[in-house]
Amino acid sequence: MISAEQNDLMTRVGPGTPAGQLLRRYWQPVALADDLRGPRPVRSIELMGQHFVLFRDESGRLGMLDRDCPHRGADLAFGRLENGGLRCAFHGWLFDAGGACIETPAEPAGSKLCTRIRQGAYPVVERAGTVFAYIGEGEPPAFPEFDCFVAPASHTFAFMGLFECNWLQALEVGLDPAHASYLHRFFEDADTAESYGKQFRGASADSDMPITKVLREYERPDISLEPTEFGFRLKALRKLSEDSTHVRVTNMVFPQAFIIPMSSEMTISQWHVPVDDTHCYWFAIFTSFTGPVDREQMRAQRLELYELPAYTSRKNKRNNYGFNVQEQLTETYTGMGDDINVHDQWAVESQGAIQDRTREHLGTTDKGIAAYRRMLVNAIEATEAGQGAPMLIDASQAGNFSGPPSIDGIGRVPADAAATDAYWQEADRARRLKSDWASARLAAREGAGQ
Ligand code: FES
Ligand SMILES: [Fe+2]
Repeated sequence: MISAEQNDLMTRVGPGTPAGQLLRRYWQPVALADDLRGPRPVRSIELMGQHFVLFRDESGRLGMLDRDCPHRGADLAFGRLENGGLRCAFHGWLFDAGGACIETPAEPAGSKLCTRIRQGAYPVVERAGTVFAYIGEGEPPAFPEFDCFVAPASHTFAFMGLFECNWLQALEVGLDPAHASYLHRFFEDADTAESYGKQFRGASADSDMPITKVLREYERPDISLEPTEFGFRLKALRKLSEDSTHVRVTNMVFPQAFIIPMSSEMTISQWHVPVDDTHCYWFAIFTSFTGPVDREQMRAQRLELYELPAYTSRKNKRNNYGFNVQEQLTETYTGMGDDINVHDQWAVESQGAIQDRTREHLGTTDKGIAAYRRMLVNAIEATEAGQGAPMLIDASQAGNFSGPPSIDGIGRVPADAAATDAYWQEADRARRLKSDWASARLAAREGAGQ
């Protein structure tokens, strides 16, 4: 249980708030590259309570500017993309991707007004089909060389979705390995051959046992946590027999991401990004260790559930998430269909717009959540004191990061720490060795003695 003050400290991220200052020190995912194609690549963006316009100019350069026009405050998200920039629809002032005002067409010929005008502009980069923006002060940190950022573009796919709640409770669901045995329980196992692109529907690696059966029948995982340079690693063990253990290794990447296995061939790197204090987007990058990703199929699967342009879920609190009594009795634990994102969405939205953590009671299975909150508060306090925080790395440190290993598999090992560590390390290495792009990187790293 924590105090109301502590809850506010951790959850509120508007301009000037302590947690907001911390999160502004990092790159934040703000859009999918898929949405910056076509005849008018312009998107309005809300990030931590601030409003921006993101666009790709005619030369392909990305820009993110403050959304209110510096002339008289009209909305630049309705502007015209032309003449090398974004033109305000009110009086035609034109801004380039760097925020320079390049035309004020209604002013008298020869006017120098433009030279005195500068719109707030922010660094943006596209990585793995996702546009990341930096709205903090000074130089942004470097991107670590995690799999999702170094895999070839053909082997990644990105998607996003809106949760109508605070970002922290959305992130915390990913640090809680126990909920999968309940919230995501299926009473029947689907054909694992039909599981492409779906989480918790295939077989665990190194076995033909469906993950749904493991989660359903072994519902009391032994969870341990190990600090790493990027945050921490969570290991959830389910003892299947004396010499057989289900091992699930997931990772918390400070400040707002986790990297988890989706299937034996793909991982998910997922950020929880505050829109404001009571809404957040999840951004997921799916990374394949086998062949190229079938993007069309993965996007089509998800668009059945999410509505454009805001990536809102068709199942939501206004229609009880599609809750069906018969389904809850016979098919799924929630009665809300078989998409686990909907289960997670219900869970976190039902906690309230901002979960009142003064009323909660954490258990043993919540050790990841407790550890994350300690890291978060320490980093908030360090930021207020003008000090460093985890993962504020420079380019020379980016190569110190790799992986991180994210495994869901069944090892022919007893459920003890050493044997299961040996199992997941070997499973990770074996998967990399079989992958074109990851094996080359592994060989380079091992050759360099890392
Ligand atoms: S308000 Fe934008 S050009 Fe006048
Ligand atoms: Fe979940």
